[in-house]
Amino acid sequence: MRAVLNTLIEELRRLKAAGVRTVAVSSESTASLRAVVVRRAEAEAGGRKLQSENTDRTSALDASSNPVRSPQPVLRAAGGAPSIPPPASRLASPAAATTAALPPPPAVALPAGDKSARWAALRELVLNHPVCLANVRPGKKVVLGVGSLDAKIMFVGEAPGADEEVQGEPFVGPAGQLLTKMIQGMGLKREETYIGNIMNWRPQMPVASGMEQVGNRPPTTEEMAFCLPFLRAQIEVVQPALLVALGKTATDGLLGAGKFKTLGEARGQWHEFAGLPVMVTYHPSYILREPTNRKKRLIWEDLLKVMERCGLPITEKQRGYFLER
Ligand code: URA
Repeated sequence: MRAVLNTLIEELRRLKAAGVRTVAVSSESTASLRAVVVRRAEAEAGGRKLQSENTDRTSALDASSNPVRSPQPVLRAAGGAPSIPPPASRLASPAAATTAALPPPPAVALPAGDKSARWAALRELVLNHPVCLANVRPGKKVVLGVGSLDAKIMFVGEAPGADEEVQGEPFVGPAGQLLTKMIQGMGLKREETYIGNIMNWRPQMPVASGMEQVGNRPPTTEEMAFCLPFLRAQIEVVQPALLVALGKTATDGLLGAGKFKTLGEARGQWHEFAGLPVMVTYHPSYILREPTNRKKRLIWEDLLKVMERCGLPITEKQRGYFLER
């Protein structure tokens, strides 16, 4: 336990030095740490002296109260630029795997050629990018957008989740299935649109050794900034007529973190990114949490605006979807 705690403290120091201010802790990790505290309290109450555990506590408290003692340096390449972070799989403790310092966002130069050639080159670049690879666990995939390279509508979500990092495709889990239904409601096939994300990897959270990550955390501003050039490049290749930002993270990623305090301030209105109109709406997972017609109607009204702007035909039936409460 002592070694695990020390590794955890080292990792937290390293993240702090890299500017990370919040770290998500899984319920398993919290439970493990709590178990240590409870064991110690029980031992002390019983008047027993557990030498090894007392040593644990001393080192843990020393380390946390003196963050400059034996700091772990942030990895830097020559010239001062932060180098590629160690992959989650190579971090000293998988339990401590979370955001690491990222290098500056990459400059993406697309080759000449037709859309398919340019997209294929971009795919090669993103799926093999060392920083992207460093941020996925073994056996999991970096995820690029999918869909028609002639799509008029590009949906932009947040980040891959558990299903997406396994399949290597955005929006294939429950939220994705709902997104597909929404697209079908618009009279389109999923594959006639383009679906991408702000992030190309699932934001990592600490997991107990040998366990799968449970739950998701929103990406940090730094992570979003790193992946944004990849999204810009997808927009450059596809040249859609407009973008649909799904949820607050996508909105922050496209329009700037901090521009809107709540999604409600931006939703249902046209904004602009890379010279294209952006409709902001709720993320499909918002509906999954509470699948009421009232909520569905809110998203649907935004999608009707999208259909109108794209010149898609709209039937009376479509106009009336989700009106019954
Ligand atoms: N949610 C997202 O925002 N993107 C995905 O790819 C899946 C779920």
